[in-house]
Amino acid sequence: MTAETVKYEHPPSPSRSSPLPVPPLIETPSADKTVEMAKLVRESFAAVETKAEELSQYFYGVLFSVSPDARALFPINMATQRNRLLRALVYVVQMVDRPDELATFLGQLGRDHRKFDVLGRHYDAVGVALIAALKRFLKDDWTPELEDAWVTAYGVISKNMREAAGKEIGPAWWKATVVEHRLVTRDVAVIKVRTEQPLLYRAGGYVSVEVPQRPRMWRYFSPATAPHDDGTIEFHVHAVRGGWVSRAIVHHTRPGDVWRLGPSLGALSVHHTESRPLLMIGGGTGVAPLLALLDDMSRWKNNPPVHLFFGGRRPEDLYALDELRGLTVTCPWLTVTPVTEEGTIAGGDRGTLATAVTQRGAWKDRDVYVAGSPSMIRATIAKLLAAGTDLARIKYDPFTLD
Ligand SMILES: Cc1cc2nc3c(=O)[nH]c(=O)nc-3n(C[C@H](O)[C@H](O)[C@H](O)COP(=O)(O)OP(=O)(O)OC[C@H]3O[C@@H](n4cnc5c(N)ncnc54)[C@H](O)[C@@H]3O)c2cc1C
Ligand code: HEM
Repeated sequence: MTAETVKYEHPPSPSRSSPLPVPPLIETPSADKTVEMAKLVRESFAAVETKAEELSQYFYGVLFSVSPDARALFPINMATQRNRLLRALVYVVQMVDRPDELATFLGQLGRDHRKFDVLGRHYDAVGVALIAALKRFLKDDWTPELEDAWVTAYGVISKNMREAAGKEIGPAWWKATVVEHRLVTRDVAVIKVRTEQPLLYRAGGYVSVEVPQRPRMWRYFSPATAPHDDGTIEFHVHAVRGGWVSRAIVHHTRPGDVWRLGPSLGALSVHHTESRPLLMIGGGTGVAPLLALLDDMSRWKNNPPVHLFFGGRRPEDLYALDELRGLTVTCPWLTVTPVTEEGTIAGGDRGTLATAVTQRGAWKDRDVYVAGSPSMIRATIAKLLAAGTDLARIKYDPFTLD
């Protein structure tokens, strides 16, 4: 891997806040039509999924020939990105029949895309490239009905994003300077940054981050602290095997580095007026948004009981356990149970988080917060549902794409 370094000299420019014009053409289809459209989109994409690599290459080829200036929005080395945009795009378009779930996410995604300098015409170009690529790879299976379904579905999704971006008048990104970098395990670092202008985020949310070692490779990270008056934010980053950005952050970040942060996204939050007891389940650095929620709650006089399970493979992976145990002293409403798959910890459980949590029942009286890697979230939710937990009570950020 080569480290490329860029410096950001300017704060977010006001021109980035100018509204994106939204084409008036797309009318929101009826619920029945939307269900049929999503079915056509999903079935047709399943037929070309095995050719995703070639489809993606063709998509980018068309995109950059229709809109050459769009190339500058993407990382220099596209091969390292594993087709992030196309994968994400198709994943989201396939969910067009879940408008209520998608509405908040698309608004956040549209506002977040301003950090890429995306313009209205880029949305049109992406739509053209998407349809051209599907048409080419579906060959004789490409029908006028299919074209109508994809064009409408893409139109609905992109309209939501463009509208939200157009209404946003805040900065597209915030400049943040690294003030501290601590390696807390072999492959996890705690990084504290300070923003010049206050970053508006909610405890439990996540933001996208670009670091100078990896220009234009934005990744999502969850602040581990609630917003503080001094503008500092803490991130916990796990270096994943072969990871471009996470490894650079964990092993090459230095105080003084200047990061860019996107606007806040995410669905995890605690409403202080609701007093249902909470069950929190955090795997590895997935504990970060839960710590932010606890940091926020610790400033309130009254809180519901919270039981947090913090899991990792080995005892040394539970890097935040001392901090959590310290919190139980000042926050009598908090109980912490460490869980490891190997080795033992005093007062802890042995096994996977999913097993440790569900062997104590279905937690029917609780709202449940789950955060961690996509596989950990999937396994934990599956086991909770099998144990009888109500899906409506489980909160997690579902739009994870890796
Ligand atoms: C909502 C959200 C919040 C997140 N918050 C945090 C956080 O607070 N701390 C944190 O460390 N990470 C967090 N992540 C994960 C982070 O965004 C990156 O996906 C991760 O750091 C890998 O990026 P990379 O560039 O190093 O890996 P890439 O170069 O993109 O991928 C390299 C390899 O790693 C695999 N991989 C990618 N992501 C993961 C993962 N999460 N776990 C295991 N393997 C993976 C890929 O499949 C690929 O094989 C969050 C992700 C989401 C979607
Ligand atoms: C309906 C429209 C769109 C949807 C649903 C969408 C969705 C997404 C999502 C979810 C990601 C994040 C993936 C990740 O990094 O984990 C992403 C990345 C990205 N999107 Fe979009 N997007 C849309 C349109 C556009 C347009 C019009 C552009 C401008 C050309 C654009 C440019 C990008 C770029 C540059 C990235 C980062 C890609 C990378 O890192 O390789 N997107 N998109």
